[in-house]
Amino acid sequence: MKQLTLTILLTYLFVSVYSQQHSQIQNVENRKTTSLNGEWKVILDQYETGYYNYRYEPTDQTLNSKTNNNAFFNDYKQQRPDELVEYDYDLSESLNVPGSWNSQDERYFYYEGTFWYRKKFDYNKSKDDNRVFVHFGATNYESHIYLNGNKLGTHVGGFTPHNYEITDYLKESGNSLVVKVDNKRKLEAVPTVNTDWFNYGGITRDVTLIETEETFIREYVIQLEKGSLNTVKGHIQLDGIKLKQSIQVNIPELSISQNFKTDIKGLALVDFKLKNAILWSPNNPKLYDVQIVVNDQILKEKIGFRSIETKGADILLNGKSVFLRGISIHEENGERGGGDRAYSRDDAFMILGRAKELNCNFVRLAHYPHNENMIRVAEELGIMVWEEIPVYWTIHWENKDTYENALNQLTNMIIRDRNRANVIIWSMANETPVSEPRTKFLINLIGETRRLDDTRLISAALEKHTISEEPLTMVVEDPFSENVDVLSFNEYVGWYDGLPEKCDRVNWEIKINKPVIISEFGGGAKFGFHGNKNERWTEEFQEDLYKRSVKMLNKIPSLRGMTPWILSDFRSPRRVHPVLQEGFNRKGVTSEKGEKKLAFYVLQEFYNQKEEEFDNK
Ligand code: GCU
Repeated sequence: MKQLTLTILLTYLFVSVYSQQHSQIQNVENRKTTSLNGEWKVILDQYETGYYNYRYEPTDQTLNSKTNNNAFFNDYKQQRPDELVEYDYDLSESLNVPGSWNSQDERYFYYEGTFWYRKKFDYNKSKDDNRVFVHFGATNYESHIYLNGNKLGTHVGGFTPHNYEITDYLKESGNSLVVKVDNKRKLEAVPTVNTDWFNYGGITRDVTLIETEETFIREYVIQLEKGSLNTVKGHIQLDGIKLKQSIQVNIPELSISQNFKTDIKGLALVDFKLKNAILWSPNNPKLYDVQIVVNDQILKEKIGFRSIETKGADILLNGKSVFLRGISIHEENGERGGGDRAYSRDDAFMILGRAKELNCNFVRLAHYPHNENMIRVAEELGIMVWEEIPVYWTIHWENKDTYENALNQLTNMIIRDRNRANVIIWSMANETPVSEPRTKFLINLIGETRRLDDTRLISAALEKHTISEEPLTMVVEDPFSENVDVLSFNEYVGWYDGLPEKCDRVNWEIKINKPVIISEFGGGAKFGFHGNKNERWTEEFQEDLYKRSVKMLNKIPSLRGMTPWILSDFRSPRRVHPVLQEGFNRKGVTSEKGEKKLAFYVLQEFYNQKEEEFDNK
């Protein structure tokens, strides 16, 4: 009993202390919102002259910041003919939001630096004591946010949501929302300077105004507790001044109506039983209408309930062993502007539709948190999800700011998506070089992940090692494999390591009793380039590599999933062959426009077999 009390106390303390630090608003789409998407005025500011004075001091922190006519965040308009003002949003060009600047104007394609965005809007609150927030789905990479010359805050991280209260700064008309977005890559950033994807800069996801009651439901967890098929455990966090409230959680379809009380910090721990619930699964992605009621406020969300666990080498979904028929995906719509960040439900349906055609029940959303539409649409389609933060390759492991940055991105991702039944794996990293500082960095991230969500599996895309050439034997030698729930690794036998025939000679030695996911394998092909299968870059070469790869990997007894690299060709500045790559990584089983290569059908056939095998177990 003492242990249980201690656990409850620790959970309560952590959630209540931690939740004050993160004012992230969850479930934006089901709130009272106004979209600020559309045309924004922009200023390309390569030398950040709108931010730094000539002594390189940030003008938003100098005493005269509000009267500084050349601080771009003031959106100042020349009043008198003799005035010196060296910018003018109204006379500047526009860009669409959401969208990167790279893909909207070829002059900006390779630009890495600062753009200023300005949106004018009017706003009338529906009730005087209501509150108003501005929410960004993502801005890549570092952004500073201002309303009517008042600094709201900054956000670091190119793929995570951030929101700011604007209640006290809002005017009924002529509000000026100014955003400085800087996508310069930095060694100490997350990711660092070297990545194999395109550095799209800008306001790349939705911008939304949210109006709430004075005291409102900011975030919550309503999910099955780990290991249970019928007990819901979680919490509800209010934000405002009247924090001690009675709260009701209703699931009408299950005749559930549960009452809870929040404490002086606005926190209520949630605990109730589900009776006769249909559990979420790929074959039946059941979502229930859940209502959280406080006074006259009803916040709704569709929530699925399922259990995900490992047992020895098995991954158990609702107690049944599953095989994750997956594919890796970058957040890119290859058909918009020749390639731009995906952000909408339509984009999600298009991309995930291709995964469904492959007969996937799983996707790895690489290498950063994708837009929320991807996760919600995947949940509706019955597709399980691996999410990850861009702790990728040579991160600066011993820099505390780098760790805080990674932790913030991890926290934003988990708070946003921890009510999504289809999210089953949080991944800490991708192909990170083994060292003591790196493993310590990652173990600390695991600790934070389990505090934020102890119900989902934890993994990371590790690397393989060849321990002998004769017989050809490969293993995964990484101390971090002790810390994860699922042993995942990338392998490129037949592309970077030898030729496809080498797959036929490999013996895999997996010494750890955990489920194995091959988080990447594959090779490149240019769509429509046909020839002998021995000729690299032909579709036939890639087809042969896939045939030999799935045969090789299927011999691993503890294989429980794979996410070959990758669904579609994607932009990468590292891929410069003028004929075969043209700035694209060509490892897709489809082209960037979704045109299927021969390898697509190899993978589809393999997944049809795996579905048969596991559904008949
Ligand atoms: C790596 C990396 C990917 C990259 C791929 C490749 O494994 O994780 O981000 O695109 O290999 O080389 O194509």
